[in-house]
Order: sequence, then C-alpha cells, then structure tokens
Amino acid sequence: MEHQKLKAFPKHFLWGSASAAYQIEGAWNEDGKGKSVWDEFVTIPGKTFKGTNGNVAVDHYHRWKEDIQLMKEQGLKAYRFSVAWTRVFPQGRGEVNQKGLQFYIDLVDELIVNNIEPVLTLYHWDLPLALQEEYGGWENRNIIDDFVNYAETLFQTFRNKVKYWVSLNEQNVFTHQGWQIATHPPGKKDTQLFYNVNHIANLVNAKVIQKFRELEMPGMIGPSFAYTPQYSIDSDPKNILAAENAEELLANFWMDVYVYGEYPSVILQALKEQGITIDIQSGDMEILRAAKPDFLGLNYYQSATNAWNPLDGVSNGDHYQMNTTGKKGTSTESGVPGIQKTVENPFVETTNWDWTIDPMGLRIALRRMNSRYRLPILITENGLGEYDKLEDGQIHDSYRIDYLEQHVKAIQEAISDGVEVIGYHTWSYTDLLSWLNGYQKRYGFVYVDQDETMTGTLQRIPKDSYYWYQKVIQSNGETL
Ligand code: BG6
Repeated sequence: MEHQKLKAFPKHFLWGSASAAYQIEGAWNEDGKGKSVWDEFVTIPGKTFKGTNGNVAVDHYHRWKEDIQLMKEQGLKAYRFSVAWTRVFPQGRGEVNQKGLQFYIDLVDELIVNNIEPVLTLYHWDLPLALQEEYGGWENRNIIDDFVNYAETLFQTFRNKVKYWVSLNEQNVFTHQGWQIATHPPGKKDTQLFYNVNHIANLVNAKVIQKFRELEMPGMIGPSFAYTPQYSIDSDPKNILAAENAEELLANFWMDVYVYGEYPSVILQALKEQGITIDIQSGDMEILRAAKPDFLGLNYYQSATNAWNPLDGVSNGDHYQMNTTGKKGTSTESGVPGIQKTVENPFVETTNWDWTIDPMGLRIALRRMNSRYRLPILITENGLGEYDKLEDGQIHDSYRIDYLEQHVKAIQEAISDGVEVIGYHTWSYTDLLSWLNGYQKRYGFVYVDQDETMTGTLQRIPKDSYYWYQKVIQSNGETL
C-alpha cells in the first residue's frame, strides 16, 4: 500500500529504549544476589567472544541514577528493563532478598519521578542456577510454581507503578539456543528435550498471565517474541512452500500458542514424522487457551529468506557456524531438512555480524502479526549492532541513525496501514554486553567505555543517535 499521507504517531506513543539485567548491571555477586545460569555459562571456555562476561558489564547497578538522568535529558518516554530473578530470590525461591528487590524499587521510582514509563521484563534469560542444579530448571514442571511465585512478588511490589509487563523475553531464542544448538545455557543439543522445555515455558507464560488476571493487575502483560518474517527466494512454488514452512515452524509455533493456545497442526504432523512428541499432559491445552496476552511484544532485527531443502539437505547440525566475531560473511547456511533452508537475499544489505538490514521487514512483521492475531503490538526491541569509533570524544553513528530512521518510518507506514502499535523500544539504551559477541557489537544511544578486556572506565558518552532520537521524541515522530 502506498499512502497519500501517513498517519501521525498516536499521542501517547511509548518512545522508549531497552536493556536486560545481565547485559548491563554487573555487580553479579553483590547485595545477596545468587548465581544465575549465565554467571556460570560464561566461565566455560569458548562459549562467549574472547571469554567476555557480565560480572561488571556496564556497571548499571551502581550507575543507574546517571543512566536515568541521561534518559530524562533525552526525553525518553519509556524504559524497558529486566529484573534479575537472582537478586530477588537468590536461590530461585524462599525468602525475598530485600536488598535486591530494593534496587528495582528505587529504579522504578526514579523512572516515574522523571516521567519515564517503566516496562518490566520478568525474564530475560538469567535463570537462578540453584533451580537448574536442583531440578534442571526449564526441563522440569517445578519451574512453573517457582516462576509464578517470583512473578507474583513483583506484581504485588509494583502493582500501582508498572503498567507494562513483559512475561518471557524471546522464548524462541533461549529455548533454541539452550537446547538445540548449545550456544546458551544449559548448552544442550537435544531436539526432543527442546520441544518439552518449550512446552513448559509456554505453560509458565500462561500461568503468569493467569496470575496477573487473578490479581486484577492494572495494566497490560504479554510476551516478547523474536519474530523474523520469512520470505521466499523467488516465486518457485516449492520455495514459497519452504517459506510457509519456516513461518509455521519459526513463528506460528510460538505466537499461535500465546494467542490461541494451539500449536500449528502442520508442525505437530512434521514432528510426528520425526518421532518427536511434545509432552502435553491433560489440562495443559486448557491452561494455554485461557491465557491470551494483552499485547504482543515484538523484537525485530531482521528478515530471513528461504529455499527448498530436501530431506538430505543442510541442517543446523555440528557444522553450523554463527557469526559472533563481527567478521562479515562468516556465518554458514542453516536449515531443517525437508522443511526449509535459509539463503541470502540479494535485495538487502547485511551488518558485520551477517544480520540482514530490512526496514520494510518490520512493516511486514507488524502487518502479519496484526492480521493473524489482532492484538496491540509493543515493539520491545529493534536496533543495529555495529562497531562504533570514538573520535575526539564523540561517536558519529550516522549508520545507526539511518537504520533507526528507516525502521521508525516503517512503523509509521504500518500504523497508516491500520496496525495498532503502542510503542517502540530501541535496543539498546546504553552499550552493553552482547551475550555471545562481547562488547564490540554496540547497540546503544549511549556509548560506554567498556571492551573485551573488561577494564574500561565505564564513562558514558551520548552518541549522535542519542540526539537524533531526542528530536524524534520531541516532535512525536514528525521530524522524520
Ligand atoms: C535479542 C535479545 O535477541 O537481541 C537481546 O533480547 C540481545 O538480549 C539482542 O542483545 C541482540 O542480539 P545480540 O546477539 O547481537 O546481542
């Protein structure tokens, strides 16, 4: 659709930015905090880029006031952050660690005083290690009660302060990387287990939403999903079918469960043929069906393009290589035999980490989600991970401004198409630890002097993109 005139952004649009506890806080063992699975995983040689970890990260735990001050000066309307479960319950359950909880109470209060809407993510991958060791964490249904108990503690604490809640961040990413390709904790490659873990995560998501309803919480709750819209390489029907397969396997398989409480039937059929069964117990589907979220959180970074992949074709097996070094062109082909394989799209550029740059893909993602689910969409992440260079004390990140500007325009176009988008959070607010890619893959509006040696001064310097976003916010998107 081409519009004569684009619609304006809604009056109370949440112009925000985002972060996650492990990636920014540091202070990994302070004030009674317990260990998370990431605190342990990063100590395994070869797992992260140059052995980087979040022990200090960008020291947000000690510099949060300074960070919020910068948000205020920028005019940020919303800030999405995650709570480290291990600060609140060091062992995953039991007594609340008041000091840990207090950190978030102070943070939320400071945001509110500065007119910044807090958007709280309950889980951004840092599971208490104690639960992993005790019963296998996500592999065991015991996690359902422990998670709901943790969530309820936060619901009660922030009842009248936090209006926007994200249940799970990127369930598709942490389960896939944790149990299929072993690049996240617990570092396993076990497809059968992956499907069971994922089912348990679905139940956790549903039970948390149920608890939110039970407590009659004011506000909205929903999961954040890493949605990569799938294209076909051309109009050859078999490639189109591969793209449809990819959409079912990599997107509908999660979002249909969130919204409708149903797994797509074609995927259930495909799994059956592979001898995989999901451990669905009596009453599970009723739980899933009864927990429709209030919004869908969208984390959008890129689109992907597909071609037919025969049964003896490429797989995400042992030869699969992810680019975590920033050396362009070092990632390898991936796919699921008999379903799809990912191929290069000649129409889009890629970053140094081989992620496609496709602003129209964001509009397509919003359109597809709107058409299939008819729920408001909160964009919970979008951004460009790139090298930044400090020149005379400044960072001229025009490439990031271009990226963000085109994506914001794509949102405006989607809004003009009729999609309900309630907010936009860039990834990320400050530079941070990019899980597997170290500190050199930078996303922030605010540069932080930290690198792979993990001995930086931690000084904060707003980049050119910080000032660009300030104008966007001031004009409610009119400056675009
Ligand atoms: C999302 C995560 O997957 O993408 C973030 O929610 C992450 O935590 C971001 O940092 C970018 O990915 P990466 O691998 O470049 O850090």
